[in-house]
Order: sequence, then C-alpha cells, then structure tokens
Amino acid sequence: MFRKLSALALAAAVSTTCHAQATLAIEADKPVHPVSPMLYGLMTEEINYSYDGGLYAEMVRNRTFNHSWSGFQHWTLDNAGDSSATMKAVDNDGPSEVLNHSVRVDIANATNTAQAGVRNDGWWGMMLRPNTEYTGSLYVRGDIGSMVVSLVNSTTGHVAATTTVEGITGDWKQLRFTLHTGTALQPGAGNHLLLSFTRPGSVQMQLVSLFPPTYKNRANGNRSDLMEMMANMHPKFLRLPGGNYLEGDTIQDRFDWKSTLGPLVDRPTHKGTWSYQSSDGLGILEFLEWTEDLNIEPVLAVYAGYSLKGDHITPGPGLKPYVDDALDEIEFVTGDTSTKWGAVRARLGHPQPFPLHYVEVGNEDMFDKSGSYSARFTQFIKAIHAKYPSLKVIATDVIKNGTQPDLVDDHYYKTAEEFYGMVNHYDSMPRTGPKIFVGEWATREGSPTTNLGAALADAAWMTGMERNSDLIEMSSYAPLFVNVNPGGMQWESDLIGYDATKSYGSPSYYVQSMFAQYLGTEVSQSTLSGGVHTRFFTSVTRDPAKGELYVKLVNGSSEPQGIDIKVSGVNVAANGTLVTLKGDARTATNTIADPERITPQTLKVRASANVHHTVPPLSVQVLVLPAK
Ligand code: AHR
Repeated sequence: MFRKLSALALAAAVSTTCHAQATLAIEADKPVHPVSPMLYGLMTEEINYSYDGGLYAEMVRNRTFNHSWSGFQHWTLDNAGDSSATMKAVDNDGPSEVLNHSVRVDIANATNTAQAGVRNDGWWGMMLRPNTEYTGSLYVRGDIGSMVVSLVNSTTGHVAATTTVEGITGDWKQLRFTLHTGTALQPGAGNHLLLSFTRPGSVQMQLVSLFPPTYKNRANGNRSDLMEMMANMHPKFLRLPGGNYLEGDTIQDRFDWKSTLGPLVDRPTHKGTWSYQSSDGLGILEFLEWTEDLNIEPVLAVYAGYSLKGDHITPGPGLKPYVDDALDEIEFVTGDTSTKWGAVRARLGHPQPFPLHYVEVGNEDMFDKSGSYSARFTQFIKAIHAKYPSLKVIATDVIKNGTQPDLVDDHYYKTAEEFYGMVNHYDSMPRTGPKIFVGEWATREGSPTTNLGAALADAAWMTGMERNSDLIEMSSYAPLFVNVNPGGMQWESDLIGYDATKSYGSPSYYVQSMFAQYLGTEVSQSTLSGGVHTRFFTSVTRDPAKGELYVKLVNGSSEPQGIDIKVSGVNVAANGTLVTLKGDARTATNTIADPERITPQTLKVRASANVHHTVPPLSVQVLVLPAK
C-alpha cells in the first residue's frame, strides 16, 4: 500500500533546520510490558450507509419494496413509447411469511418495441464494469410468462446488458438471471436496473437482487475494495454489530440476530437507528464470514435489554429470555455441530465454529437513566461465565454493584485539542481493575472524512494507547465507513469514504494502518527530553522475533522537531525504513475526487544506534530500525 521511494540516508532526508531539539533515549533491551496483540481492530455498524449502499455489495436499493406515502422509494415506472403500466403495493401477499407484501405491476399496453417496466436507481447509481457478470434473482408471480431484465445507462439509454427471465406463473417462485457487460463498456455508476414487459398482464414481485462479483466470490457477499481497505488496516478483530445499531431505537428495532439468519426471503428487514431500513442482508453469519475473510476474530456484542429511546428490561426473570438469546448467539458462533445452534450454523453452510474470546454486553449503557445496567450486566456475565468460563465479558459502563467485568468499553469522540490534552489519560490509571476496550473513538475534524489535523491528534492519542497497552487491551476507531453521496452521511468525520465507483482512506485511515502494521510485541523503555514541542509525541515498541524496533513520531505542530534517537541494548543495522504521512495544513485531506493527496510515503534510510533526525511539521512517522 505504501509507495516505495529510493534509498536515502536518514540524515540526508531530514536536513531542515529547527528550533526544538529533543532526545529520545531508547533502552531496547528493557521491555516495560507486552503490547496487547489485540490492540487494533475494527468497529462498524449500519450508519452512513455502511452496509446497505456500502460494504454489502447488493446493487438494488429497497429490494423488498418497502412502501411509503410517496410510493416505493427508488423504484419508478419506466414505460417506453405507447406502453402503459401502473404500480401498486399489495399487502398480505408475498413469497414468505416475513416478506408477506409485494409490488404489483399491471401492464395495460406493451409490445416488444414499446416495453412497459419499472426501474431501480440503485445506491446513487449502479456501478458497471466492462466484461463483468452480474448475478440476479427475484421472487415473482403473474400471468405474463416472461420479463426482460436489463442494465441501462441512465443518461444515454444504452443497454449495457440484458436477458430474458422465463417461467413466470401464478405461483410465487424465485427466478435467477445473469447479466454480462461487454468489453467496450465504459465503467461508471450512471446506470439503473430495468425490469420490463412485452405484453399486457399482471405481475407481483418481491426481493429483486443483483450482485457484482464480490470479495472472495462469496454469494451475498461484500465489496472487494472495502474489504481490501480493511485488510490493509491490519486489524485483529471486528466489534459487531455496532454501536447504536445493536440497541435499536426500541426493543423491537434491536439487532435481533435470529431474524438475520438463512435465506434472504426469510429475513424481515428492520428499522435501523440512523434513519433508514436495514435489509439485514448482512446478518450474523455474514458478519462472521467477514471476520473469517479478513482472518480476524469477532468481538460479539449482544443485546443487553436497553434501547436508545429509553426502553429497558428490568433485571430478573423478564431479562432471562434476552440472556438466553445471547447464550444461543454465542453457541451459534462457537458451538460444534452437536449443539442446537452450531447445527443451525452448519445447516446454513458453515459447520466450522468461529473463534470467539470476547463478548460485549450492550452498548453505551450509561445512557440508561433507569440505572439498571449494573444488575443487567451482572445477570449476563454470570450466565455467560457459567457456560463459557474462558470468555472475556466487556461492560459498557462502570459496574456499581461489585461485579467485576473483564473489560470496560470507553468511548471518546473528541476535538484534536481535546485528544492532545488526553494523551496521558491512562498513564496513572490503576492496573487493578478491569482492562480497557476503547471500543469507539475518533478525532472529529473534517467531513465527510477526517482531515490531517484529525489524523495528527489520532496518532498522538494512539501513542498513549500503545504506552498503556498493558491496560488497554483493544481499541477500534468509529465510524469506519461513510457513503459520500448527498444524503449518505448521518455522522460527520469518518474513516473511509466511498460512492458506487470507488473508495478512499482519510489521513486518519493511514494513521490506523501505520500504527497497526508496526505494532510490536513489547513496549520499550524510552525517555523523551530536551526541547519538545507541545504537540510532539512518541511511542517505541519492539518485536524481538522480527528483530525490529518501531519508533513512532507524531509532530502535530507547524514547526519541525529535531530529535536525537539514541538506542541502547541492541545492535541496530543500517537498513532502516521511514514511513511518513504529512501535509501542508491541518485542513489538508483526501476526497472521493482527490483520494491520494495525503498518503504514507516509504523511504529506505541508513539507520544506526544514534540517529539525528528532524520530524517534519504536521507529520506522523514510523521509523523501523532493524534491531537484534
Ligand atoms: O459511532 C457512532 C455512534 O456513536 C455509535 O452508534 C454509538 O455507540 C456512539 O454514540
């Protein structure tokens, strides 16, 4: 991912004169404590069109024909020439118990040359690439025999791919189709899906779906570019399924994992917390497969009996069904095929259990003003530990009744100035209580994605997390994703932006990547002294097995920072590497139109045990020293 530049001596690369001159004395043979191997992971939820219209590769928007006063959003009639058709909602008639509604299209006039139809405009368009196969399906019944399915350029009317779906009869059935684009097609998102008819009649439809090729070719899978961007963050875990999305506005709107299992036609969809309906195409099994594809482990957040608008379940017998539901969910993740829920997972195509070490009970339960969380958490942790003693259970608030969680999840959404002031927040925190999971955090500057100023403060904060990684076992930035189209964002300042055509990383994204790639296995003893700018921070870690020392240097000031790096206790070889992320202004950023303005540059540098270096203004650097 990082650009390789030609080899230069470190001193030659950093000849700028500077006022401040600091010394960083590193005693590499004196580890202070191990670095938590789980320190950096991922957190996502259905926000900013992260899944529908984002990671989840479905191209059809409102595929289940949810109806509002204004009609079926994202579906419109498309009647060519003299053809005519109308569209209406049908209640109590659909292909399954949970999708027991549909759209009915009544075609009064249609011919081969003047087809009547309906079109779907996708998630701000439909990205089409040349020479590509798109896989589709729909549930349909009617008296019309066949329909034409096409991908059409919305500006020119050019048909990029077309096929005929036969076999439409009076009974609901799922029909599948494929659409192939030609080699001459110009890639672009200005396209729609057209379902059209060549003769009069009536059809009812439900669950119209279309997928491009997906990451690792999974059916019902994910966008490859976004999966690759996550892989390049070198994460260790995925906290799933959120965030507020776990809780729902009401108990009924929670992430009810059992309703996200199995064929899509058996998933009712549900109201998300960020103003739009969730298709639940990304259900619990798809979440787990996502972790499998990235070779990371899930941190399973279970619904804990509190929802955002204040509903809560009183601890005791009323909470027991929710506790049992969480135990079922853990069994679904980890149970072998002899268990009830392990067998369900196997029937759904995944006999192999998934690894699981962490379960989080709820999300941000400090907002539960009823004060019920301590007792709710206690009921959950007792039941979980009784059945799964080795699982680590995470609380989302301080537990006030003496029950000791294994970890507590702290969230921080801050300005850059606030984070600079908090770099030492955990330095003096007692080590006798639960470990810390910084499960959501971000410097909130820049929109839709964060800018360099945010990335610098992120990096400063991360030096503090690394230094305290005996206490901070895990952390995950949030939110991870934003669809940058108008109306796509509910939460400003996100890590990765995209539209239907492409994705890009914010400067903060590259900081995440740099810190996780050069994590190290132990924190080395280091002392920073001398003339140090107020916004200058360091972190030193080492990986003895790899024979590498990682010196992270964060200069959030507009002045260069001179530094003498003196390494003792190991032999430093000459072939070092210096990775630099920098820009001219704190407001400098990447955008969908200019996605690589701020990206890390990698230099080969001549290293030694005494490095005289200047850290550029507004920069984050990782100096990799070969050290044995
Ligand atoms: O990350 C956005 C939201 O911030 C999360 O849903 C919630 O947990 C937090 O308040």
